[in-house]
Amino acid sequence: LNNSLARTPPMGWMSWGYYMCGANCEKNPEKCLNENLILTVADTFYQEGYQEAGYEYIIIDDCWSELERDSNGRLVPDRKRFPNGMKYIADYIHKRNLKFGMYTNIAKKTCMKYPGSRDHFDIDAKTFAEWDVDYLKVDGCFVEEDFLNTAYIQLGSALQKTGRQMVYSCSWPYYIQYIHNKIPDYQPVADHCNMWRNYHDVVASWKVIKSIIMHYQIEYKRLSPHHGPGHWNDPDMIVFGSGALNEGQSRVHLTVYLMLSAPILMSCDVNNITPYEKQLLQNLDLLAIGQDPLGVMAKPYQLELEVTLWVKPHLPMKGDKYHSFSFAIVNFDVRAHLISFFPSAYGANYTDGYSVMDVFANTFGKNVTLSDYIEVTVPPEDVILYSLFPL
Ligand code: GLA
Ligand code: GLA
Repeated sequence: LNNSLARTPPMGWMSWGYYMCGANCEKNPEKCLNENLILTVADTFYQEGYQEAGYEYIIIDDCWSELERDSNGRLVPDRKRFPNGMKYIADYIHKRNLKFGMYTNIAKKTCMKYPGSRDHFDIDAKTFAEWDVDYLKVDGCFVEEDFLNTAYIQLGSALQKTGRQMVYSCSWPYYIQYIHNKIPDYQPVADHCNMWRNYHDVVASWKVIKSIIMHYQIEYKRLSPHHGPGHWNDPDMIVFGSGALNEGQSRVHLTVYLMLSAPILMSCDVNNITPYEKQLLQNLDLLAIGQDPLGVMAKPYQLELEVTLWVKPHLPMKGDKYHSFSFAIVNFDVRAHLISFFPSAYGANYTDGYSVMDVFANTFGKNVTLSDYIEVTVPPEDVILYSLFPL
């Protein structure tokens, strides 16, 4: 969608992956979706370096509203959990130079059976605009295929009509493919949405992270042409802070998302992020790969049964015409693999050669020319990541 937003993939935090519905605060205070939670995330982003690293959007997912609309047909935030309403939260977030996201569904009810936006597109768009919302996730439960194909476009124009700029996140192709068993037509999706889900919900488990990555590897040809500034494929949230992934697996999770130029929306209790996870989430050499303005989805090359090389070209530096590149060698196997490859076989073509940064070691190795290869042992369930800069 060309609305000038999301020129690089959005980064931030979203409630669902960790808090899920989060509506039963008495019984489950550890997973309570309420005002205090959202303000705490905003404070943490502002005070602990996330905002400076580029994390921006704080997004309330499903289960934020009362079960009934008000007498004017408007959505009402849950009175107990959001006592000061949503505009109050938006102001708090905006004061910290951050942005505010919300959620609705394209059907009469949301996936968790709260009021959804069907038959209320205009009034809901107006409500979100009045609350100063900057980002809207629109889910696609409970409707027919035909309806998905028209309704996302209609709700998108209702949002445009408000005059407020909102990142428009759609789940449209996911429901086409996995609920209605059709191949999505990505062109209208990319024309009308800033980002969209392709695949099943993420869960904090290594098996699920691998299946998401495999999905993008398998679907690369279909997805990559529709991916770029203003329009992104979305593999769902980053599930750090759960204890489910070891350090190598965490590196794989975040690295592949960045290589894809995917949105980076963490979902976690911000107080449960480990020091190592925080260091990864704020590693600027790593984030630069995903935030590169060219926004190209890395191309996967299966080198061995469980080893894939992902290759991503970056926008040349000002005045230069040669691209820099990132190469990520991802090992899903439980044993180490010795891998070698020629960067020149994957697009590197500058005859003076490249400097080679090992992003996780934060060191520069030997420069490579077009006749040189790189050889490295990739540990089990881990990734080696190089950025190559023209000399
Ligand atoms: C779907 C979406 C999730 C989340 C829930 C909320 O499953 O894919 O990301 O928004 O609905 O009910
Ligand atoms: C192509 C290559 C770039 C660079 C230019 C030079 O675009 O992809 O890496 O070498 O040619 O003209």
